[in-house]
Amino acid sequence: MNVVHTINDLKAQLAAFRSSGCSIGLVPTMGALHAGHASLVRRSLMENDVTAVSIFVNPTQFNDKNDLAKYPRTLESDCQLLSTVADEVAATKGCESNIVVFAPSVDEIYPEPDTRQFSYPPTDTVMEGGFRPGHFNGVCQIVSKLFSYAEPTRAYFGEKDYQQIAVIRRMVDDLKLNLQLCPCPIVREADGLALSSRNTLLTPDERQTAVGISQTLFKSVEYAKSHSLAETKQWVVDTINAIEGLEVQYYEIVDGLSLQSLTDWTDADNIVGCITVFCGHLPVRLIDNIRYK
Ligand code: PAF
Repeated sequence: MNVVHTINDLKAQLAAFRSSGCSIGLVPTMGALHAGHASLVRRSLMENDVTAVSIFVNPTQFNDKNDLAKYPRTLESDCQLLSTVADEVAATKGCESNIVVFAPSVDEIYPEPDTRQFSYPPTDTVMEGGFRPGHFNGVCQIVSKLFSYAEPTRAYFGEKDYQQIAVIRRMVDDLKLNLQLCPCPIVREADGLALSSRNTLLTPDERQTAVGISQTLFKSVEYAKSHSLAETKQWVVDTINAIEGLEVQYYEIVDGLSLQSLTDWTDADNIVGCITVFCGHLPVRLIDNIRYK
């Protein structure tokens, strides 16, 4: 496993693979890697000849500077996890796993302020877009840069950030990028809580409380079979708000591609519920989602 810190080194490493016809998988991350990230890397290693994993806490997607300052930076343990995943996959495939870790500095990525504006309404204006102005513009800035450095065959993103994938899909279409977007299923703890780097900020009691989010979402799929979309939406919000220590910021049931809010279960073939909940004393902002059809 090679760790590089500059764009030129990343390009040089990948060019050597590309010139011998190898496929390239890209897994963009902000580090603090957990089993959810490991599942993306594992899939990329299985499907590509070489996998580039970027580890970069991207300042332009944080609208809260305090959140940016507090974001965990754990390059050493991240590399250990990646090396374990690489060994596991090598044993399964029976050949070497090639990982290039790209861990640049902020100056390397943004020697000048990035003034580009990306706009893909409604995917980037609803839900997270409304509560975190500028967030998706920052995500598009960094992801478009990573795509142009790595020129991946495939790029892997976790479905926990469902809206992020919808925005990036629009950007890939807009820029006519020649790559395959690979959304990967949410990885959950045994009790159902969606894995997130933010879960480590919860106290043990808050961690127990947080499971109410996914449990309610799972139960809502059954509830939805005999209730209207509006009733289901209200039931999810009321049920979670009734749990001490949890407060719903928003719950939207949307078209899974356009992210347009729906009023009836017959309005779309692909329907997803997206939620953000504040949990605990800090509080920690947790997101999750569930598919209805
Ligand atoms: O999902 C994330 O961790 C980030 O938004 C991403 C895609 C790595 C861009 O910084």
